[in-house]
Amino acid sequence: MDNRRQAHDSPLVDDVAEILISEEQLEHRVRELGAQLSQHYRDLNPLLICVLKGGYLFLADLTRQLTIRHAIDFMAVSSYGNDTSSSGVVRILKDLDADISGRHVLVVEDIIDTGHTLTYLMENLRSRQPASIRVCSLLSKPARREVELPVDYVGFEVPDEFVVGYGLDYAEAYRNLPFIGVLKRDVYS
Ligand code: IMP
Ligand code: MG
Repeated sequence: MDNRRQAHDSPLVDDVAEILISEEQLEHRVRELGAQLSQHYRDLNPLLICVLKGGYLFLADLTRQLTIRHAIDFMAVSSYGNDTSSSGVVRILKDLDADISGRHVLVVEDIIDTGHTLTYLMENLRSRQPASIRVCSLLSKPARREVELPVDYVGFEVPDEFVVGYGLDYAEAYRNLPFIGVLKRDVYS
């Protein structure tokens, strides 16, 4: 049986109001980003820092589109719990394994919403003196931004809706959906 068919037939799909970004669109955009990053970071041996948990699928697909030498590391920060709006309070749940001083760092995020999480994270990482630091976020919700922050690479801009799939969750579910979908409001309200 085709894996894609299986994922689309999942009962989780019943909670999705609309598919915003299809599996094919994700694949295509990740390939483009991979090519762009391979060019920018050629000979720099960058360190890709995946922000857990939401960034795990994006990182896995993105690194397979990189043609250059690179390393990966992981960080976990708390953001929402089971709620759907940001508290602005960020806690490091898992720190990096590696020292990043002198390294070219690329932070790989799932989504930038209010911007609080990333602002905190960037400040924290900058204090460790990397050679450079950039951000690659699969999604951005510009309408919800509360703090200005430059994002170097964005996969897609999305409207002000709560989205799930391709790593993004609601209450830890829906991460496995192969597309980005809008969660039905009655699921969380
Ligand atoms: P921010 O601090 O408001 O920018 O929120 C960043 C984090 O909140 C993201 O890394 C996600 O983990 C989570 N988040 C924000 N919007 C969504 C959404 O629409 N779906 C799922 N998670 C979200
Ligand atoms: Mg996240």
